[in-house]
Amino acid sequence: MNIQEIIAKKRDKKELSQEEISFFVNEYTKGNIADYQASALIMAIYLNGMTKEETLNLTLAMSHSGDILDLSSLGTVVDKHSTGGVGDKVTLILMPIIASTSVPVAKMSGRGLGYTGGTIDKLESIPGYKTNISEEEFIQNVKKIGISLIGQTMNLAPADKKIYALRDATSTTESIPLIASSIMSKKIAAGANKIVLDVTYGSGAFMKTKEKAQELADEMIEIGKLAGRETVAILTPMEEPLGKNIGNTLEVIEAIEALKGNIQNDVKEVVLELGASMLKLAGKGNDLEENKKKMLENIQNGKALAKFKELVQNQDGDISYIEDTSKFEKAQYILPVMLDKRIEETTKQEVTVKRLKAEEIGKLSVYLGGGRIQKEDKIDQAVGIVLNKKVGDKVKKGEIVAYIHANNKEKGEEAVRRLKEIYVVE
Ligand code: URA
Repeated sequence: MNIQEIIAKKRDKKELSQEEISFFVNEYTKGNIADYQASALIMAIYLNGMTKEETLNLTLAMSHSGDILDLSSLGTVVDKHSTGGVGDKVTLILMPIIASTSVPVAKMSGRGLGYTGGTIDKLESIPGYKTNISEEEFIQNVKKIGISLIGQTMNLAPADKKIYALRDATSTTESIPLIASSIMSKKIAAGANKIVLDVTYGSGAFMKTKEKAQELADEMIEIGKLAGRETVAILTPMEEPLGKNIGNTLEVIEAIEALKGNIQNDVKEVVLELGASMLKLAGKGNDLEENKKKMLENIQNGKALAKFKELVQNQDGDISYIEDTSKFEKAQYILPVMLDKRIEETTKQEVTVKRLKAEEIGKLSVYLGGGRIQKEDKIDQAVGIVLNKKVGDKVKKGEIVAYIHANNKEKGEEAVRRLKEIYVVE
């Protein structure tokens, strides 16, 4: 068996056998297949798709490319994963809430992919926070304080780590078999017995339509079932960015605010929807509305924020930043965005925001340095966009609709120009 034959077979729209898929995954993980060969195969999969059987085999091969954690000593562990979004800081808010209800949280998150953000990049904007800890420490942390959030830095699904970085750099993200295998391989390797999936759709998601999102959800539920992990999927719209802030540090600050009770309505809705199902799967109650109330209570009484602080402290992060978010390093240029010229063109006193495409804003954040163009790129934690006005909001002349946070003046000014275009008003 050799990789050229496997690439040619997928290029020619033929089905790959379990042995061929395992060969690719194992040899690529070991470094015996070059990035350019893996890229060619991934592109062929992206273009020609995979059968359900191939996707399952790819998932299982990827999940077995490293260790599989045994979390049985922790009781019922419910994991959560999103298929990606713009401004999606849900994990940072949801997981401490869940842990504050005494349901153990052991979650392995990813980095940013394409124009979507990643929880690990966000967590790393908290000075000192270690996303790279041993498997023993990960389990110990959950036993000790009920929560640990880590990156894919241990030997868990290392094949996905390599393929994920490659996909980010080769525009091969929006593919059902590649997303399903990426997510489910991580979830299987990370050991949780119950999984809640947030499957996003719309401009800022990899699945542009609800139908495609349902297809992806069904595929992952099926894989979960075959792997003995009860899996529930919730479909959430991602047409405009979620919440106010886009960018790593900016999103952490918004998450801390949310845990203090200042939570944007759209973020709240997704957090409660996913959390209610997680509590149900964990055996904490079948009434979803009651579960939502319990979650809101733990925001109001401060338990969720206290749990987030405990998490940060336990993974060596500096909690003084959580206590006082003004300590976070800010971007050098914070530039206001106004729509005065656009409003003048309409001859109206005020206009309404009609569209604010999440994908365009995600790309703007990457342009400012908040995401990667090449897989080795270092990201700039401080840059991003703060949205004061979102779809449905009214805007008058002189009102600031958003701020661009930039560390490069020219890029910042260009981002202001582009953001004015991204706002569609009427
Ligand atoms: N999240 C993942 O972990 N993988 C994907 O492919 C997309 C979102």
